[in-house]
Amino acid sequence: MIHAVAPGSAPQDSDVLVRVDDVRKYFPIRTGLLRREVGRVHAVDGVSLEIRKGETLGIVGETGCGKSTLARCIARLYDLTAGTVVFDGRDISRLSRRRMRPLRKGIQMIFQDPIGSLNPRRRVGSIIGDPFAIHGISRGEDRKHQVQELMRVVGLNPEHYNRFPAEFSGGQRQRIGVARALALRPKLIIADEPVSALDVSIQAQILNLLTDLQDEFGLTYIFIAHDLSVVRHVSDRIAVMYLGKIVEVASVSELYARPRHPYTNALLSAVPVPDPDQADQRERIILVGDVPSPINPPSGCRFHPRCPKAQNLCTEVDPPLEVKKDDRAEHVAACHFPVEVGEKLSRARAGIAQPERQAAVEVSHEAVEGAIGPKEKT
Ligand SMILES: Nc1ncnc2c1ncn2[C@@H]1O[C@H](COP(=O)(O)OP(=O)(O)O)[C@@H](O)[C@H]1O
Ligand code: SF4
Ligand SMILES: [Mg+2]
Repeated sequence: MIHAVAPGSAPQDSDVLVRVDDVRKYFPIRTGLLRREVGRVHAVDGVSLEIRKGETLGIVGETGCGKSTLARCIARLYDLTAGTVVFDGRDISRLSRRRMRPLRKGIQMIFQDPIGSLNPRRRVGSIIGDPFAIHGISRGEDRKHQVQELMRVVGLNPEHYNRFPAEFSGGQRQRIGVARALALRPKLIIADEPVSALDVSIQAQILNLLTDLQDEFGLTYIFIAHDLSVVRHVSDRIAVMYLGKIVEVASVSELYARPRHPYTNALLSAVPVPDPDQADQRERIILVGDVPSPINPPSGCRFHPRCPKAQNLCTEVDPPLEVKKDDRAEHVAACHFPVEVGEKLSRARAGIAQPERQAAVEVSHEAVEGAIGPKEKT
């Protein structure tokens, strides 16, 4: 894996492949005959991030927090409501479809459901060859050779060129998705929950494939997942998302050693620990209640209705994403009362009394079986 930037140092512009600045995506809610706008889903609500060349940035958060919407904004599959996305030094935020087209080669996506995104009546060779056809690159035997080479690279048998998607297993179908994404030699691949639909044993194979390809092709990844157990094994840095906002960003080691945001703590406590002794000692934080509606997000810190540390200030002032005391420069968290090292959230007492308050912290000492075995990166 390429580490373009030493952990802890601020990235130079030349190290950054994507810069996301205050990006917002609101979906209008319309009703009635006149389709009047009656509200807006604040799916992504002021996200700023940079993705460095050659790294894997993991984005993690509960379902519905805006991960896929953010991914589609970065890939410019969506128009932005506000904010900017700079890709490879070029501001792509407001480019028209036509002007975006040549740049699309540089940003490719891999989706969760490889089956749903593949046309069952088309042969795999022609599906993988789509990007070449769309961009008018190579034809005939030439294209077939390129497709078969891609099949080999992702671990598929090139002789299966004429088979249909139904003849492949779930893991193989995701390899087809990876081959398509690789076809145009992109700089950035956004993998949106690429292994969530796969069996645990197959997940590791796809994760290994993605890691190998990153080294071979010098790729930069945004890797999205709804829990930390998967992103941990592939990411250099992790951004934690909650209800349309990024609440913490840090290197993997820093995030695991010193999680500062109570929400990150809760997510981490749910990650299976392979060592039962360690799991025995760990407090398990169970967040109750659903993620609040992004149509009318809570005031101040959006996490306050579920946060065991919430105080009155949290209901009024939205905490900025910033470096906390004693943290490294690249570790930022959005919290007025960040978690200290060794602090037990189970002992925290919220200072706000709201009838609708949902927060609950439960401690359990049961060991949790590992969902996927640890795969340390090289
Ligand atoms: N096209 C859309 N129109 C209206 N609301 C949407 C649309 N896409 C996503 N949303 C809403 O935006 C929020 C974020 O969704 P999404 O980005 O899919 O979250 P995630 O990928 O983290 O599960 C959710 O409340 C979802 O219902
Ligand atoms: S302590 Fe306050 S600011 Fe920090 S996460 Fe909890 S509610 Fe938000
Ligand atoms: Mg999603």
